[in-house]
Amino acid sequence: MSNWIAIGSINDIPRRGARCVKSPIGTIAVFRTAEDEIYAIEDRCPHKGGPLSQGIVHGAQVTCPLHNWVFSLETGEAQGADEGRVRTVALRLDGETILMDADLVMAIAAE
Ligand code: FES
Repeated sequence: MSNWIAIGSINDIPRRGARCVKSPIGTIAVFRTAEDEIYAIEDRCPHKGGPLSQGIVHGAQVTCPLHNWVFSLETGEAQGADEGRVRTVALRLDGETILMDADLVMAIAAE
C-alpha cells in the first residue's frame, strides 16, 4: 500500500514549469506540462548534475539547462543518442492537490 503525502497544489506550478521538493533521495523536481500532466523526477542530471527543474519542458520531456540532454518525464530515460536516466517518483492528483508516493521515496532512499 502506498503512503501518499500532499506536496502542494498544481496551481503552485506554472505550465511548463517545475517546483522542487526536498526528500531523503535529494531534491525532487515536480513538473507540470502544458497539458496539466504532472511528473516527478530527481532534480539532478546524470550527465554532470544539472538542475533539471530549471530545464525547458516540451511535451512530456525536459531539456537539461546545462548541455541540452533530453529526458522523458514519464520514464526518466535520456532520449536520442544520450544514455542515462533519472529516477521517477509516482504522483497523483486529488482535485488540485498533488500527492507523492512517500513509501516509494523511502524505499529508494534505503537502496
Ligand atoms: S548536466 Fe545535464 S546535460 Fe550536462
